[in-house]
Amino acid sequence: MEEKLKALKEEAITGINSCGDAEALENLRVIYLGRKGVLNMIFTELSSIPVLEERKRIGALANELKQKIEELIAAKRLGLSKVETKEAIDLALPGKKSWTGHNHPLTSMNDEICNIFLQLGFSIELGPEVELDWYNFEALNIPPHHPSRDMAGSLFSSFFITDDVLLRSHTSPVQIRVMEKRRPPIKSIMPGRVYRYENFDASHAPIFHQVEGLYIDKGVGFGELKWVLSEFCRRFYSPDVKIRFTPSYFPFTEPSAEVAVSCVICRGKGCKVCKGSGWIELLGSGMVHPQVLINCKIDPRQYSGYAFGIGVDRAVMIKYMLDDIRLLFENDIRFLEQF
Ligand code: FA5
Repeated sequence: MEEKLKALKEEAITGINSCGDAEALENLRVIYLGRKGVLNMIFTELSSIPVLEERKRIGALANELKQKIEELIAAKRLGLSKVETKEAIDLALPGKKSWTGHNHPLTSMNDEICNIFLQLGFSIELGPEVELDWYNFEALNIPPHHPSRDMAGSLFSSFFITDDVLLRSHTSPVQIRVMEKRRPPIKSIMPGRVYRYENFDASHAPIFHQVEGLYIDKGVGFGELKWVLSEFCRRFYSPDVKIRFTPSYFPFTEPSAEVAVSCVICRGKGCKVCKGSGWIELLGSGMVHPQVLINCKIDPRQYSGYAFGIGVDRAVMIKYMLDDIRLLFENDIRFLEQF
C-alpha cells in the first residue's frame, strides 16, 4: 500500500505540473480527489488492513498525499489563471482615445456673431426667457386682438404659461427692456434662446436662437441698416456672399425687410432646405416703428433707428451646409466631433 501511495504521488506531481490548461487540471482533480477518485478508493481500501497500527500509519500517509495533491492543484490553478490573463491582453488593439471637449457649434457661432457686432460698435444686453405679453407683443405694437396676431406659423405661435406670461417667441422684447432703461444713443445686440409652438422640420425648430440688434440715434436711416447687415454677412460668411433683401412685414418695424442668403446646399437651384426657392431666410429687420419708440418714451420726432433679429441656427446651417436643423439638437457625438 505504501508503495502504491508513493507511485501515485510521483504520477500526480508529474501530471499536475505538466498540465497545460484549466480544463485538463479540473479533469485531474476529479481523477485524484473526486468522490469516485483514486484517493477515496484508497480510503475505502484502508479497512482491509488487519493491523490497527498499520491502518493508522497508511491512513496518515494517504491524508498527507491528499493534502499535497490539493496544494499542487491550487498552485497550478493560480499559475494558469495568470497565463490566461496575460493572453487575454491583445497588445495589437489600438489604445483608448482620450476625448477633448469643446463648445457646441451653436455656442461657438453665437460667440462669433456677437464678436462681429462688438467690432462694429454694438454692446451686449440680455433679457429673460419667461416674458410678459407686454414685452413680447404689446409694447412691440401688437396689442391683443390686433389683426397681425392672426399671422399663422410666425412669432405668434407662442407657448403661454398664463394669460399674459409666456416663453418669449423672439428676442425683440429685449429691445423694449433696453429702451426702457437706457436713453439714445443705443447700439446693442441681444442674443438668446426663443420658443415657438411648431413642429421640427428640416429648417424649423421649436426652440432656437436669435441675436437681436438695435440702433437708435438721431438721423439713423435704412441705408445704415442695409450696410450693417451686408457687412455682417461678408464677415461671417465670405466677402462675396450673395444676399437678398425683400420687403416684409413686422408690426414693430416700418418699413421691414427680410434678408436671405443664397442656399449653399443646392447653390440656388432649389432643395428641401430652401423649399425650392434657392434662398435661405436668415433674419428679419426694419426701421423701428414710431409707436414702439413712443411706448418706450423715446420721441420719434427726434430719434429713429433700426432693428434686426438673426436666426443663429439658420446662420450655422448656411455656414456649414447642413441640410437639416435637427442635427444641431440631436447631440450625436459623430456630428459634434466635426467642429
Ligand atoms: C422675428 O422673430 C422678428 N423678431 C425679427 C425682427 C427683429 C424683425 C427686429 C424686425 C426687427 P422671424 O419670425 O422671421 O422674425 O424670425 C427671425 C429669424 O429667426 C428667421 O429669419 C429665421 O432665420 C429664424 N427662425 C424663425 N423661425 C425659426 C424656427 N422655427 N427655427 C429656426 N429658426 C427660425
